[in-house]
Amino acid sequence: MKVLVCFVLSYIACAYAGSLPSFITPCSRSDPNLNECVEKVISAAGAKFTEGIPELGIAPLDPVELGTVVVNNPALKITFTDTVVTGLKGFRVNTYKINPEKGKATLDFTANVTLKAHYDMNGQVLILPIRGNGQSKIKITNLNIVVKYDFEEKDGHWIVPSYKDHYKMDRAQFKFTNLFGGNKELAQTTERFTNENWEIIMSEIAPPALNQIIKKCVDQVQKFFAAIPARELLP
Ligand SMILES: *[C@@H]1O[C@H](CO)[C@@H](O)[C@H](O)[C@H]1NC(C)=O
Repeated sequence: MKVLVCFVLSYIACAYAGSLPSFITPCSRSDPNLNECVEKVISAAGAKFTEGIPELGIAPLDPVELGTVVVNNPALKITFTDTVVTGLKGFRVNTYKINPEKGKATLDFTANVTLKAHYDMNGQVLILPIRGNGQSKIKITNLNIVVKYDFEEKDGHWIVPSYKDHYKMDRAQFKFTNLFGGNKELAQTTERFTNENWEIIMSEIAPPALNQIIKKCVDQVQKFFAAIPARELLP
């Protein structure tokens, strides 16, 4: 019975292998303009990729669910729950660089993303106390993410043993409902204050939230590499 199950599973794995989705046209390894070629492929196929590819076990990246995101600064504690991020679908590739010999690649892209979550916050920003719990929305304009990753071939498939990322953004805008238990005047003043000082607040929220977003993206790319043999991705 066990053998049969394994056989069936390996058959499914084999059926997956090699089935590059029709919306992806691979570049040739010997293309003299390989970077530009892959950049175009990612630009053309990216939006579709973010919708997910169920046949290959790839989950959607827009929307992407982050679950709980915790900011645990002594001065400011925030717990976001049921966090959902939208907007990755509209990403724009700035540059892509690949060195197949060294097994190194860099993807630099920009997207406008929105995080929606339930929030529970208590602490202070600069000298202003801030407290509340309710729905929150954070709009990030021109979130620029650069991911440098290593890749190597194992059993005919690329794996990503490690990656590094950094990010920056033009602006973040916050909307918090029910600040100070719904005290309108205090809430309005505080919301204006948070938006004027977005950089201070985002410097707390961005590391946990963006690390999770980037990890979700890398996870799906790894699943993609696991499903399609390297020689199909870069013939
Ligand atoms: C993000 O939005 C801004 C302003 O609405 C726009 O100028 C910019 O091109 C957008 N960026 C992307 C990557 O779509």
